[in-house]
Amino acid sequence: MTSPILVTGGTGRLGRAVVALLVDADCDVRVLARHKRDTLPQVTFFTGDLRRGEGIDAAVSGVGAIIHCATSTKGDADATRNLMTAATRTGSPHVVQPSIVGIDCIASWGYTKAKLEVERIVEASGLPWTIVRVTQFYDYCFENSQKLAKFPLVAPVPAGFRVQPIDPSEVAARLVEFALGEPAGRAPDMAGPQVSSWVDLFRSYLTATHRHRWVVPVRIPGSKAVRNGALLPPARHTVGTKTWDQFLSARLQERRT
Ligand SMILES: NC(=O)c1ccc[n+]([C@@H]2O[C@H](COP(=O)([O-])OP(=O)(O)OC[C@H]3O[C@@H](n4cnc5c(N)ncnc54)[C@H](OP(=O)(O)O)[C@@H]3O)[C@@H](O)[C@H]2O)c1
Repeated sequence: MTSPILVTGGTGRLGRAVVALLVDADCDVRVLARHKRDTLPQVTFFTGDLRRGEGIDAAVSGVGAIIHCATSTKGDADATRNLMTAATRTGSPHVVQPSIVGIDCIASWGYTKAKLEVERIVEASGLPWTIVRVTQFYDYCFENSQKLAKFPLVAPVPAGFRVQPIDPSEVAARLVEFALGEPAGRAPDMAGPQVSSWVDLFRSYLTATHRHRWVVPVRIPGSKAVRNGALLPPARHTVGTKTWDQFLSARLQERRT
């Protein structure tokens, strides 16, 4: 694609991986986020706040596609509405939207309720779109494991949470493929290669980092849907290949070097 591609949230977990792939593919890449962090020299950075509607027009002007990775614990629906309005004013870019597997089943949770609304806003924007629902990222599981390991001796872990996490680099590759291709509408969901539980993921983390904690599964109120598999993908989905153990060993190796 010769027109620039905008990656909102291009400094986040997923956004960084998307940006790196687009740069490798020699694309003209823009990033929009609130804070400038280390970005590759080939990238044009725009400081802006999607939720407040600041700095968006310049970032979207003339782009051929938007990979909308920006997210926050609050305000994703307003942020997306502002982005779609600005993008519609300046052209007709293809919007590629990552979303979350199973959000319809857990839409009573604040964040997932907003993500469901984000999907509706993108669908109704009048712009060409592709939405891909994906499962939890290994980075997110890793960060949560680090937090749990801060408990001395005993670590309380959500009981019965069934998950099928994925390496965000595999999600990023799929989003880039979509952005460089034709709009696909609602694409097949995407998940990693293994069904697991939070308890098992955390135990693998402890083993890999040579830590010892007494793992205590704790029943979280209102989590029945997740215990019943709401976060797992439907039968037909795209499967990533990298496992949690492979991710762990690569991540820990990076930190040693
Ligand atoms: N994490 C997961 O496990 C997971 C699983 C499934 C789907 N997803 C989806 O994948 C996407 C990316 O998630 P992520 O985990 O990579 O997010 P992340 O690491 O939290 O990154 C969020 C990015 O958004 C930017 N941002 C936040 N608020 C903004 C605002 N108001 N205006 C402009 N930029 C803003 C942040 O930069 P600044 O703070 O500098 O603005 C950052 O670059 C989201 O749509 C998320 O729902 C994530």
